[in-house]
Amino acid sequence: MHVLHVVGARPNFMKVAPVIAAFDAAGSVRQTLVHTGQHYDANMSDIFFEQLGLKRPHVSLGIGSGSHAVQTAGIMVAFEKTLVERRPDLVLVYGDVNSTVAAALVAAKLGVRVGHVEAGLRSFDRSMPEEINRIVTDRLSDVLFTPSADGDENLLREGVPADRIHCVGNVMIDTLVRLLPHARRPRLDLPGDDYALVTLHRPSNVDDPRVLGGLLQALADLSERCLLVFPLHPRTRSRIEAQGFQWPHHRRVRLVDPVGYLEMLALERDARLVVTDSGGVQEETTYLGVPCLTLRENTERPATVDLGTNVLVGRDPARLRVEFEKVLSGGGKAGRVPPLWDGRAAERIAEVVLAGRVPRRLAA
Ligand code: UD1
Ligand code: UDP
Repeated sequence: MHVLHVVGARPNFMKVAPVIAAFDAAGSVRQTLVHTGQHYDANMSDIFFEQLGLKRPHVSLGIGSGSHAVQTAGIMVAFEKTLVERRPDLVLVYGDVNSTVAAALVAAKLGVRVGHVEAGLRSFDRSMPEEINRIVTDRLSDVLFTPSADGDENLLREGVPADRIHCVGNVMIDTLVRLLPHARRPRLDLPGDDYALVTLHRPSNVDDPRVLGGLLQALADLSERCLLVFPLHPRTRSRIEAQGFQWPHHRRVRLVDPVGYLEMLALERDARLVVTDSGGVQEETTYLGVPCLTLRENTERPATVDLGTNVLVGRDPARLRVEFEKVLSGGGKAGRVPPLWDGRAAERIAEVVLAGRVPRRLAA
């Protein structure tokens, strides 16, 4: 059995690591890791290989940044050659980034079976590039590994046969469970213990200068109430710099480069609250029991709201201020950990694959 994994962007690395480990533990599986190069800065890629204990990729496509079409097509052209050479029995793709859909499309056309890890999530908002990637990837996949029951429901509603769908739990939480004991606070020399952690990178929040300006001003106001630690995604840093935003209380806002995973876990764990638009961070805060305010109108991860600590606040700065204050004064929403977010999702994926339960999907 030869399994080929395709990753490319930051959150993919946390998802693939436990799956590779689970197949390694099973023995008899040959594995190939392909890195598309969608993310390439050391602090967006290499650091995760080191911290997660991932071996160097067997193949690095080195595609880099570009428009959606340029990036997706670049990955497809390069990955097609890799796939023809390597001929695995199964290609596993992760999450909802351009690398995910590009690899799924190539594999499906070459008649190689495709498995989607983190299948079935839906925001029902096609203005998000990730939603398009999710729909297309799921449509093409022979086997679909969902993190939660809502994923199964979405896929069944879309006509995916039930025997293709396996609710295995959340692989990102597998990594969290393994590495939380090693989490370590970055040296930030904060003037106090209480801080709110902020991450932003969705195009809907950072690409429109008016929306970004409104959110930054709201954050600047909130920093008077609570220190902010804000690791800047490269997309966000470039947008803030282009806008020339000046932080009025800059000593209360710690803008830092993207941090490593172990540092990020410690920052999330110890935060009074987290303000984010990240998919993975919504899940991690739910697991950690830390209040999370999500700057989006919707989420493809409803378990974090229904069961966890997540509150959707939309993009309205006024609502953010209200909800932020509520957490500071009331402690925030209590939550519980969704079923199967137990550190063993990857083992379940390996079990399904090794039991031979991945026949090729020839019918629509
Ligand atoms: C991508 C994913 C998004 C995911 C995010 C995780 C798509 C469509 N989007 O968004 O779903 O949540 O990754 O972080 O796949 N850049 C650098 N260095 C890097 C990588 C990017 O400077 O190592 C800059 C480039 O200017 C690039 C921009 O960031 O144009 C955006 O990168 P890109 O991969 O296109 O999208 P993300 O916003 O990172
Ligand atoms: N993360 C990190 N350093 C950072 C910001 C995020 O290690 O500076 C981790 C975070 O803990 C989670 C993953 O990156 O494991 C989420 O990635 P991101 O927010 O980029 O993408 P999304 O999940 O929104 O697709």
